[in-house]
Amino acid sequence: MQIVWQCLCLVVVWILRLSGFVSEAAIPHRYLNTHQLIVKYGYPAETHTVTTEDGYILTMHRIPYSPKSNSTDTKRPVVFLQHGLTGSSADWVILGPNKSVCYMLADKGYDIWLGNSRGNKYSKKHTTLSTKSSKFWDFSWHEMGIYDLPSMIDYVLNRTSHHNLHYIGISMGTTMFFVCTSMKPEYNRKIHLMIALAPTAFMANSKTPLHKLNLMNKSLLPVMFSLIPAGASWKSFVHYFQEMITDSGKFLQYDYENLNMAKYRQPTPPEYNLQAVTAPVALFYGSNDPFADPTDVLKLNNTLPNVVELYRVPWDQFNHIDFIVANDVNPLINDHIIYLMKRFKTLT
Ligand SMILES: *[C@@H]1O[C@H](CO)[C@@H](O)[C@H](O)[C@H]1NC(C)=O
Ligand SMILES: *[C@@H]1O[C@H](CO)[C@@H](O)[C@H](O)[C@H]1NC(C)=O
Ligand SMILES: *[C@@H]1O[C@H](CO)[C@@H](O)[C@H](O)[C@H]1NC(C)=O
Ligand SMILES: *[C@@H]1O[C@H](CO)[C@@H](O)[C@H](O)[C@H]1NC(C)=O
Ligand SMILES: *[C@@H]1O[C@H](CO)[C@@H](O)[C@H](O)[C@H]1NC(C)=O
Repeated sequence: MQIVWQCLCLVVVWILRLSGFVSEAAIPHRYLNTHQLIVKYGYPAETHTVTTEDGYILTMHRIPYSPKSNSTDTKRPVVFLQHGLTGSSADWVILGPNKSVCYMLADKGYDIWLGNSRGNKYSKKHTTLSTKSSKFWDFSWHEMGIYDLPSMIDYVLNRTSHHNLHYIGISMGTTMFFVCTSMKPEYNRKIHLMIALAPTAFMANSKTPLHKLNLMNKSLLPVMFSLIPAGASWKSFVHYFQEMITDSGKFLQYDYENLNMAKYRQPTPPEYNLQAVTAPVALFYGSNDPFADPTDVLKLNNTLPNVVELYRVPWDQFNHIDFIVANDVNPLINDHIIYLMKRFKTLT
């Protein structure tokens, strides 16, 4: 029952977010964008645009340094933060300097870059396609992983003259990472440390109401999700639900069903090769998370070749949304992120 309740809440949050309500209304500064929010909280902000190989024009936000940091080092280590499904870079700055890990890391001397994946409110442009065309929306987190992340990572490394960066992803921000580093293994060496909050790759144990539905016919999923308003492509939702209802329990590419043969030259979608993800990964999970279920996270822990830490958030009720909004986010999550980053800093 509690699970059902959580899922309902999440669906409501999704819908409110898609209508542009939650990120704005949850905070007093409801009309500010990410850049303006950062400035409002007293930090310097920058806005950058990055064009992907397939023409999507993405916006990145940056906190280049903190006014509270005494570091005079101009070549600060980079942290790249990637939001989740229906989210945006605003998710990382909304709670302000006392609770958002990005300001805390800036205070510690890091250079903070915030990604925005294709289709979200800051990344709705394309070199040739209009957002009114269905071709613009024809993507899932697969394309975000193979196009958006490589372009954004390369842009940041180029601008900062670094060879690698720290990556912090939440939920879909972790899925994109696993897609990127498995499909394009050359990106592993560009990652100094990956911190995965609510990692979502294997999802066969997801305890969502939809999972309980006995779908005779998977073709219905796209129809159901086409009802969701634009802001995240329905294909990202469908791809997640495919992961949940797959009999194989594998982390698979998008299932085009009878078009798989044309697309992949095999009847079923190929598996993402997690063995290729050689970058060091720390997995943070909540015991009560219906989307990143502990069973699936443990499976991920045992599949990835370079897990440096498996961290269970030390609060039994911790769930998916808590990663963004928990009251005790500092002792439960942020302090541990900062500790891990410090531990890894000495290794370079
Ligand atoms: C900066 O220096 C001041 C004075 O030395 C010190 O009180 C403060 O804690 C330092 N801040 C940081 C973030 O290191
Ligand atoms: C942050 O914490 C400081 C010191 O504890 C407090 O003075 C300040 O009001 C807090 N800021 C916000 C936005 O909560
Ligand atoms: C960044 O990209 C530009 C243009 O492609 C290139 O000329 C420059 O050498 C790159 N800088 C670094 C540090 O990689
Ligand atoms: C599944 O649904 C689609 C769309 O409603 C329909 O065209 C197809 O025949 C159905 N397949 C089966 C096996 O029922
Ligand atoms: C997580 O994986 C590591 C090896 O990568 C293993 O030593 C550890 O026992 C695993 N943890 C759990 C709880 O399965």
